[in-house]
Amino acid sequence: MRSFENKNIETLYSAEDLQNKAKELGAQIAKDYGDRTEELTVIGVLKGSFIFLADLVRAIDLPLNIDFIGVSSYGDGTESSGKITITHPLSKPITGKDIIVVEDIVDTGLTMKALLELFEESKPASVKVCTLLEKPERRQVTVQMDYVGFSIPDKFVLGYGLDLAGRFRNLPFVGVNQGDA
Ligand code: IMP
Repeated sequence: MRSFENKNIETLYSAEDLQNKAKELGAQIAKDYGDRTEELTVIGVLKGSFIFLADLVRAIDLPLNIDFIGVSSYGDGTESSGKITITHPLSKPITGKDIIVVEDIVDTGLTMKALLELFEESKPASVKVCTLLEKPERRQVTVQMDYVGFSIPDKFVLGYGLDLAGRFRNLPFVGVNQGDA
């Protein structure tokens, strides 16, 4: 247990666990896409994926394009609404491109489903999804996930890009808040 900002946070996955997982997924992606001639486009979903994406892409030994899309999926509460607002658009068209969408976590699945529907409108050549974490017990819709780091129980996690009310993204590990210190 470590104390950050006066909270007791129990480590679920250490920095080393996360880096090893990013390396494993990156190597798998490089293997799966190795024989394609088209350049792969990796799209990070902001803000939560930024640290995972940084580790993941360094483990993909292929020519890559990296882009980001900013999405806000929560209204005022902490439940996904299924409606997404694009807070930061892609910088380049994805028509005809092989894309991999990188998320920090798939929870209800509503955000990823809405995002995939949005991307499909641009007619990419192929779409795959890579998520560091997923919570199977919380799923409300079936959603495509091609590369999954860890399946976790129904607990709110933070760190390594994941936030609690905008904070804790900078923790080097993924942890569970155990209450105030
Ligand atoms: P979904 O639409 O319910 O799948 O929610 C996806 C988004 O909810 C993720 O991209 C996160 O931003 C957020 N989220 C879901 N569960 C957690 C969690 O345990 N910690 C931090 N953010 C979470």
